[in-house]
Amino acid sequence: MAPVDESPGPAGTLRRARRDASIAVDTYHVPVLVDRIVELVGAGRGVLIDATLGGGGHAEAVLRAHEQVRVLGIDRDPEARAAATQRLAEHAERVRVVAGRFGDVRGVLERNEDFVADDAVIGVLFDLGVSSRQLDAPERGFSLRVEAPLDMRMDPTQGITAAQYLATVSEGSLAALLRENGETRFAGTLARAIIAASPQTTGDLVAVVDRVVPHAARRRGPSAVRVFQAIRRAVNDEETELRDGLEGALAVLGPGGALLVISYHSGEDRVVKHFIRDGVTGGCTCPPDLPCVCGAQPTLRIRSSRALMASAAEVAANARARSARLRVGWKVAA
Ligand SMILES: C[S@@+](CC[C@H](N)C(=O)[O-])C[C@H]1O[C@@H](n2cnc3c(N)ncnc32)[C@H](O)[C@@H]1O
Repeated sequence: MAPVDESPGPAGTLRRARRDASIAVDTYHVPVLVDRIVELVGAGRGVLIDATLGGGGHAEAVLRAHEQVRVLGIDRDPEARAAATQRLAEHAERVRVVAGRFGDVRGVLERNEDFVADDAVIGVLFDLGVSSRQLDAPERGFSLRVEAPLDMRMDPTQGITAAQYLATVSEGSLAALLRENGETRFAGTLARAIIAASPQTTGDLVAVVDRVVPHAARRRGPSAVRVFQAIRRAVNDEETELRDGLEGALAVLGPGGALLVISYHSGEDRVVKHFIRDGVTGGCTCPPDLPCVCGAQPTLRIRSSRALMASAAEVAANARARSARLRVGWKVAA
């Protein structure tokens, strides 16, 4: 790690210097909206569950800024856990890194009650999708730019690979999946061609998409990107994980705790937005212009219904930040 200026000075300056240093040396993954996350977690005593620990960038920034916060970090990827454990070594006494799925956040918390002890869960952070490291690692098969076996599992020790998924999925289900991910016009033809080709590598899959989708029709970026993303989401059961993870997070948060979700995909952002909106209304079915008589109980409150976005400067420094949407809800005391 690059040396950090520890000379006396305003705490904010020191924190900024440390943060900048960590971002500059991070080759695993550059986290987005870090300052926002640090500010929203706050300095109060308690446990932050980082449900998508990745390389530990967000966790490190929070641990550096807030001495009273401890972090329970979850990731389903063994390589991410190893990288984060190394990165967070200097804060080891305030961190526990655990294997698991965030869809099972309640189970993870139960198994780690000794770490949480008497502290409240003051925040649950989800930074959805895959890390830059996962995308870039040649053997993982997440990227259409790197020739590799078609794997795409976030946890390579569990479940079926993307190649195996494509060998078993029905044409109708694959077409529906592609449609949900923006491949509206060619979903049916693509599904048929992909299943017939039985792709075994990333290159095989790119070749099918290139053959089926005319160049002129690849609006909003290369079509293969959307196809890869759709298949990755299915292989890792990402939609179910997100819905279960949000429910679980709400259940484990202490009163006033923050639900913090960064998504990069419009479908995911919609799920998060609706989840928070339903928490705010408590599922109230009364006409909006009349007082509530249905007995609905809000579980969340918000400060703004708008998603927070990265600044132009952050987007210029990190292209991944362009599509990031951060939504925040605060758990209402029961
Ligand atoms: C965008 S990265 C997080 C990067 C992290 N915030 C950082 O600062 O380095 C997303 C991480 O979440 C993990 N992940 C995705 N879905 C998961 C799930 N359902 N359960 C546990 N981990 C998951 C991935 O393996 C990946 O490491």
